[in-house]
Amino acid sequence: MDEPPNLTIWRTWMKCFAALSPSSAFPPFPPSSADLQGLQTFLIEHIIYNSHFKAYPPSPSYQLKFWKWIIGELEARDEEVEDNIYGLFMSLLNSQSTSATVSSPSLPPSPSYITHFYAISPSSHSDECNGKNTIPSERTITLLESRTMIEGGTTGLRTWKASYVFAEWLLAHPEIVRSKRVLELGSGIGFLGILIAGIQQSAFGDNDGTLSPGSDTRGDVPSLCLTDINTSVLARCHENIRHSCNGLASHPSLQIRPLDWTDAIEDHVDSTRRDALAGFFHEIDPDVILGADLVYDSTILPELVAVLRMLLVRPYQNYDAKFVSGKTVPGPKERECWLAVSVRQDATFAEFLKRAETSGLHVEELPWDIAATERTFLGGGEGQAGLYDLDWGSYAKLIKLSRRVS
Ligand SMILES: C[S@@+](CC[C@H](N)C(=O)[O-])C[C@H]1O[C@@H](n2cnc3c(N)ncnc32)[C@H](O)[C@@H]1O
Repeated sequence: MDEPPNLTIWRTWMKCFAALSPSSAFPPFPPSSADLQGLQTFLIEHIIYNSHFKAYPPSPSYQLKFWKWIIGELEARDEEVEDNIYGLFMSLLNSQSTSATVSSPSLPPSPSYITHFYAISPSSHSDECNGKNTIPSERTITLLESRTMIEGGTTGLRTWKASYVFAEWLLAHPEIVRSKRVLELGSGIGFLGILIAGIQQSAFGDNDGTLSPGSDTRGDVPSLCLTDINTSVLARCHENIRHSCNGLASHPSLQIRPLDWTDAIEDHVDSTRRDALAGFFHEIDPDVILGADLVYDSTILPELVAVLRMLLVRPYQNYDAKFVSGKTVPGPKERECWLAVSVRQDATFAEFLKRAETSGLHVEELPWDIAATERTFLGGGEGQAGLYDLDWGSYAKLIKLSRRVS
């Protein structure tokens, strides 16, 4: 059967809905001369009856706004609105007014599922291994996330803009994480982690991400360790990683672990915590360290820089290069670290740079160099930009940190 000519644009609508985008960020509403009946049929089939949205629905308040907008636009074009759409709108309206009478106005809005669609370009590695002519296939990232900036005393229960732009950049540069052992600091609820895990699985070419037989246990087997300090954030991250729609059950090595950067400060914490942290870093032995929106407050800079120094400059004392029996025994491998930094206060960013440099870190600011013509990751509260808002630099800076070689 022939596909409707507007299918691509309607699919973009579905993606905007999934990402909780505001109506201003959708493609323009079609004129009355367009196939509005076809659009309604698409919305009914691909949104109302979509099993993914039944299992992982956007918040009722978002849905209510969305359908109100659709109905208003259709009526403005004298188009008869389908019963399925009206019926859903009325039931959302009724349940919203019932919950408004029972819920306290001081409670934050309830969390919402949010789904992002993305495609990974096939790796040359998977092409070689499988002899397949693969095309980018679409995957999704689905998260339950908070709708407020701070909830329960943490900023970690939602995804921040810096993560969205970092994710776009990683899609353009998958080699940064694809076959690597990756550690993410301050992972929050797992948006970036789910993307990285998806990129790593794609390296093996199988739809379910399982490893090719014979892969060794260290060499090119990727691993990913997501870390955060906050127990509610870690619990939400666990839940999100486990959603079956994220397709990560067969990732070769994906773990979520508590990590408090203050354990890295030499004179703040008893030495057993620092030793435990050193043991943890030795165990996961990352090649690459990543983090998004971690430089958000000057009070956390000492511990953030301490943990970066511990990972990049003096990984753990016993592993530093040594001169043993007339030979130089190599120290730990060189690691690299990429941060997406949202600069809210110039002074906080300047202090971060100064502390990093005096701690023996080399800091480089790099251009985002993303050759996209559209945003892949849409919506999501703070990220309420339109499809074509590509001013990545205004979202965050891309910073590369490594050990300074004198
Ligand atoms: C602004 S949020 C960013 C979350 C996520 N990376 C994102 O971009 O959506 C900062 C994160 O850093 C974590 N964090 C703050 N202080 C920390 C510490 N001392 N140790 C470990 N994580 C910390 C918070 O729990 C929170 O998840």
